[in-house]
Amino acid sequence: MTNLFVELSTPITGPYQQPTGLFINNEFVPGVDGKTFEVINPSTEEVITSVHEATEKDVDIAVAAARKAFEGPWRKLPPSQRAVLLNKLADLAEAKSELLASVEALDNGKAYKMALGDVGAVIATLRYYAGWADKIEGRTIDVKSEMFHYSRREPIGVCGQIIPWNFPLLMLAWKIGPALATGNTVVLKTAEQTPLSALVFATLVKEAGFPPGVLNIISGFGPIAGAALSRHMDVDKIAFTGSTFVGRAIMKAAAESNLKKVTLELGGKSPNIVFNDADIEQAISWVNFGIYFNHGQCCCAGSRIYVQEEIYDKFVAAFKRRAEQNKVGDPFHPETFQGPQVSKVQYDRIMGYIESGKADGATVVTGGERHGDKGYFIQPTIFADVKQDMKIMQEEIFGPVCAIAKFKTVEDAIKLGNDTFYGLAASVHTKDLSTALKVSNALKAGTVWVNCHNLLFPQASFGGFKASGIGRELGEAALDNYTELKTVHVNLDARIE
Ligand code: NAI
Ligand code: MG
Repeated sequence: MTNLFVELSTPITGPYQQPTGLFINNEFVPGVDGKTFEVINPSTEEVITSVHEATEKDVDIAVAAARKAFEGPWRKLPPSQRAVLLNKLADLAEAKSELLASVEALDNGKAYKMALGDVGAVIATLRYYAGWADKIEGRTIDVKSEMFHYSRREPIGVCGQIIPWNFPLLMLAWKIGPALATGNTVVLKTAEQTPLSALVFATLVKEAGFPPGVLNIISGFGPIAGAALSRHMDVDKIAFTGSTFVGRAIMKAAAESNLKKVTLELGGKSPNIVFNDADIEQAISWVNFGIYFNHGQCCCAGSRIYVQEEIYDKFVAAFKRRAEQNKVGDPFHPETFQGPQVSKVQYDRIMGYIESGKADGATVVTGGERHGDKGYFIQPTIFADVKQDMKIMQEEIFGPVCAIAKFKTVEDAIKLGNDTFYGLAASVHTKDLSTALKVSNALKAGTVWVNCHNLLFPQASFGGFKASGIGRELGEAALDNYTELKTVHVNLDARIE
């Protein structure tokens, strides 16, 4: 049996104690079935350690713990105390920033300095939602004088949360922030590719003083633990970030079990639209960041790039030079911008898309090959002259690969931008205010960036139109997704005969 803690080491922090158990009721425990699985370092393809795997039985235990906490101490705690706990958790995460970021870089492969940015965003998200905890208000509703009507926002109950591997800690914070602030309890399942950082984070939950069972964090596989959570009869809400395919499965499981509430964040194929009058250097830097940040493993990656015809050739040539400057390599090297893709599966999937782009006759401007001979590294890749119906223009690649095409008019740009079944994000690059606003308003996307891309703030909501999802994360809007609205009618003096 694997120990519940193992000594690991990172180049930044040196040796540290890595928890490997399931975090249930504020304790690390082995799984009931005694199973474990290996965690891979994507930079070296070597095994880092093994962690305990949750199966259906462990999901039952975690859900029971969350239910008990919900019906007991957590529900009785004044909301202002929830704020104190969330702020304490943020402070502890801040004190452990370097450890959290280096474990993230080790397990996920993202550059350490990027991981440190993620941890900063985790802390900001927790503090933002701590601020909301005691500001969840209802209304009084004036209907008739002999009655008194009011509404309340109440927590939904036990929330199952299933997160992906692209931002392991940040997705955790986006999920638990609004859920805990509004008084729910949580069973969160991490992605099987990246369980380590959340387990380090779990040590802080107990230290912060959360009652046992309020936040449970389990490692396990989608079709086993994830599926058990989605179809569980005592889970009141399920929140998911990941693929459209699994999003559908989760909705179906919710429908077939207890009709638990569902929110989904399902990625996209977000357009970057660059007009003739854009500040071309800035536009290229933002487009570069839009597609290559986090190795293209962003739900909102700007993977379709439409450039107005007058500047098209100049743009492609300058973007090629910019992309080739991105440093690819060891996540712990201070100059690294792009590390490896998260797994062999993702590496193979992306290389398959690159092959399809080549076979379909798109022009490889740069990249298009593996980087190095060890680890899941892929060269930043640009395809130009891509036709609208090519697979690389239509499907989410989730890697450092973009597709460029030309457009003529504002109307063309809007039409091309909206020609996708997704609707998560988009960006518009222009100096003309009316073009910027006209296009922003016409794009069917939950987020539109003007002269930037991939900027997210805890205060500003994020989520998808169309097949990109249901519900919103971040901002005030996320609170609605974690509360039930109750109306109370009080009879003061109305008589019935
Ligand atoms: P995935 O959707 O399979 O995995 C995301 C999470 O869902 C993981 O925690 C996984 O364990 C869980 N899961 C998988 N099957 C499940 C099931 N039947 N029931 C409940 N939970 C389940 O994504 P995967 O395979 O890692 O990546 C495939 C593609 O999905 C990527 O290439 C990308 O296009 C997209 N994706 C989008 C993300 C986003 O941020 N929107 C994040 C990760 C992947
Ligand atoms: Mg890993």
